[in-house]
Amino acid sequence: MRWRDGECDGEMVRSAAKKIERVKGTRDFLPNEMRRRREIERIMRDVATRWGYEEVQTPTFEHAELFMLKSGEGILEEMYEFYDRGGRHIALRPELTAPVMRMFVNELKMARKPLRLFYFGNCFRYEEPQHARYREFWQFGAEIIGADTPEAQAEVIALAHEMLKELRISASIEIGHVGVLRDMLKCICSAYGVSLSDAEENRVMRLIDKGAREQIEDFMRHKGIHEDALNTLFQMTELRGANALDNAYELLESLKSNSDGLRELEALSDVLAAYEVPFTLNLGIARGLEYYTGTVFEIYASQLEAQRQICGGGSYRIAHIFGGYDVPSTGFAFGFDRIAEIFEYDAPPQLKVIVIPVYAKNASPERRKELLKKAIRIASRLRTDFITISDVLGRSLSAQLAYADATGATFAVIIGENEMKAGEGHVTLRNLITGEQKTAHINECISMIHAWSSNKNR
Ligand code: HAM
Repeated sequence: MRWRDGECDGEMVRSAAKKIERVKGTRDFLPNEMRRRREIERIMRDVATRWGYEEVQTPTFEHAELFMLKSGEGILEEMYEFYDRGGRHIALRPELTAPVMRMFVNELKMARKPLRLFYFGNCFRYEEPQHARYREFWQFGAEIIGADTPEAQAEVIALAHEMLKELRISASIEIGHVGVLRDMLKCICSAYGVSLSDAEENRVMRLIDKGAREQIEDFMRHKGIHEDALNTLFQMTELRGANALDNAYELLESLKSNSDGLRELEALSDVLAAYEVPFTLNLGIARGLEYYTGTVFEIYASQLEAQRQICGGGSYRIAHIFGGYDVPSTGFAFGFDRIAEIFEYDAPPQLKVIVIPVYAKNASPERRKELLKKAIRIASRLRTDFITISDVLGRSLSAQLAYADATGATFAVIIGENEMKAGEGHVTLRNLITGEQKTAHINECISMIHAWSSNKNR
């Protein structure tokens, strides 16, 4: 029976099965894209390892509670959650900081701190898909557990910067402080005798993150706070660049609010200068996740049309919520897919060899077996040096050469009756680009392939 494009022996075959599409917001990665992605991963992993970070992996799904405790409403609204057959409330991880901290509390709390860990994994958020925003996406992140000093903050920012440098991606690092914004908010409220619950404060922070000024004013009006009182807060969120710190001190002074956060930013700026990492202060960064306590940062790539944020991070404390003790930590996560979008990469050409066994029409089954055995032995010898593929369909020489051409092979190693007679290890090597060919021992053929390849790369 022969199949050809939906036909079987000339008759149309009606497929009973419906074509199944990918789920919205997910992607397939074909070989070329996977090569790019693996290259990015290799570079990031290499930098993280050289900085003394060690790789960890956590499960793709966790108890939903892990993310309900402190990640914030923004994340909860987008969470993929379900009850498994055992009645457990499960969530596909929307991010990796909470899982890594859960793992730290379960497995590593006795380890000497600070601990430097990195990870690469897929995450799931039920967002409205658009360019560079997916429902399944990958994060490459690093956490320094047991330190949130300006030195630790500067180290992780410098690490992210180094990764981008090695990837030859130019991007701008913007640094803010959620502690400053939260303290200001408390100050403004207390002047009106109002105190916000944690949930309410988080809600305002989320609105600041979204830049939703009117919604903040509406919300605060309901709490009895006049919108004029919010001016200093809005002025703070608009501070950027060189004079941001001086102006921020003035704003806090006018409110008599705590300025520890600004001093932390000042210290961080000094350490980052020592790392020679360029950055801009942006006191409007509020971050979508609730666990941040102090310095926060985001990295933007202007090459992306939308969804320019390629990295987010900061200092946080969540271990105590998962049954551990209070461990200050700092980390970040790159949106790997956004990096893949802008990473420029020319995959080096791959030298591929194809082994072509050619059976004589009248060959006995025994002879066919011997020839196949030789082809398999030759292919496995070739694989120690080159990418090698071998026929599995018993096709004719011309069909195999056409396949070699289609798969981009550079050399064919032909094994037929003549090569069987020429002796153990003898094959015909054909250069598929020049058409030259020679019958010789496989070791000599391997040397010829190497010589051709190094000549070509010279
Ligand atoms: P995040 O900002 O929510 O932070 O995510 C980190 C990065 O993941 C973002 O900057 C963005 O590039 C990428 N990303 C987020 N959502 C999507 C999406 N739907 N499609 C494509 N890329 C996306 C965190 O997740 C924190 N855990 C980072 C962290 C680590 N903070 C401390 N340590």
